[in-house]
Amino acid sequence: MTKLLDSLRVGQMELDNRIIMAPMTRSRASDDGVQPAYVAEYYRQRASAGLIITEATNVSPLAKGYVRTPGIYTPEQIESWRPVTQAVHARGGKIFMQIFHTGRIALPDFLPSNTQPVAPSAIRANGSNYTDEGMKPFVTPREITKEEIAQTVKDFATATRNAIAAGFDGVELHAASGYLVQQFLTTNVNFRTDEYGGSIENRTRFLFEVLDAMIDAIGAERVSVKFSPQIPFNDIEELDAGEVYPYILERLNDKNLAYVHVTDGTTAGWHAKLRPHYKGLYFANGGFTLDSGANLLAQGGADAIVYGTTFLANPDLPERFRRGAELNEPDRATFYTPGENGYTDYPTLERTAQVAVI
Ligand SMILES: Cc1cc2nc3c(=O)[nH]c(=O)nc-3n(C[C@H](O)[C@H](O)[C@H](O)COP(=O)(O)O)c2cc1C
Repeated sequence: MTKLLDSLRVGQMELDNRIIMAPMTRSRASDDGVQPAYVAEYYRQRASAGLIITEATNVSPLAKGYVRTPGIYTPEQIESWRPVTQAVHARGGKIFMQIFHTGRIALPDFLPSNTQPVAPSAIRANGSNYTDEGMKPFVTPREITKEEIAQTVKDFATATRNAIAAGFDGVELHAASGYLVQQFLTTNVNFRTDEYGGSIENRTRFLFEVLDAMIDAIGAERVSVKFSPQIPFNDIEELDAGEVYPYILERLNDKNLAYVHVTDGTTAGWHAKLRPHYKGLYFANGGFTLDSGANLLAQGGADAIVYGTTFLANPDLPERFRRGAELNEPDRATFYTPGENGYTDYPTLERTAQVAVI
């Protein structure tokens, strides 16, 4: 029976345990997408995860959809990640970088020369996005051209190589949460009439082009991908998800990726539906506790469990799970605020014990 604290072989890596830290945007970077020094301390504190997946990182200036999000396309950005990978590796940890392009979710405020964002089709997302001047409604994007699609695929490949140059063990493609890759998969953002729209084969073409470019860049065993079937975040509607995601997973069987990461935020039971379609390593995310994660592993429903807010608030989560210890509560008010408050100051069990003695 597989347990959370069992080791796991992923490509050439041996993970210490199957408790994975979820990718989480924390908005601590400079306006140029450079990480401040204390980001290394945040990830170092969480290095006892079997694997850390970083916050989503922009592949190009046109990818940026959120304030203070980091990039991996300039020499300064690459340099700023090096202390992160060094700090995690020094504690024996493993770390993948998650990379993304936000497509229609980007506001012109974040893009060079206030340019209009791109998307598969010119369909505005309902809703608004956070800026330092308050919430601003999403704008109508411009339909991305085929030339721009080809350039974006190259940008993902370059970002992937840059991540390896910065010392990462691998790279996860963000194909979830309503950003550009998922926008192509949907029935409500992709109305293209060329080979990137229409049939499921066409709507998944961009996803596979990007993944193949990443694989060509660094090898399949260091590449992974995250999906969030039918989660409506960022105004996504996926009427044929029941066909799209099994199709994707079946095709991924030949690729020998490091792992596939699926988050389920619906009541549809996506893990039970998708796991049987995939022969490689399957990482499950979405609202797991110690018990529900342990149960899914024990039943063979996943190979590892990915924890988001619980890991954010508990830097020593594997040790807390081992001891059945109490958990810190996440402070939502500081999820995206600049500075170290609510970032590097969540106590470990050890620190809590020291404070109690004093
Ligand atoms: C503060 C915060 C930031 C997040 N940023 C990202 C992100 O950059 N990339 C991503 O794939 N998911 C992101 N997510 C979603 C998490 O990876 C995860 O899917 C979600 O929190 C559900 O897992 P949980 O119930 O264990 O927290 C974020 C979640 C939170 C709470």
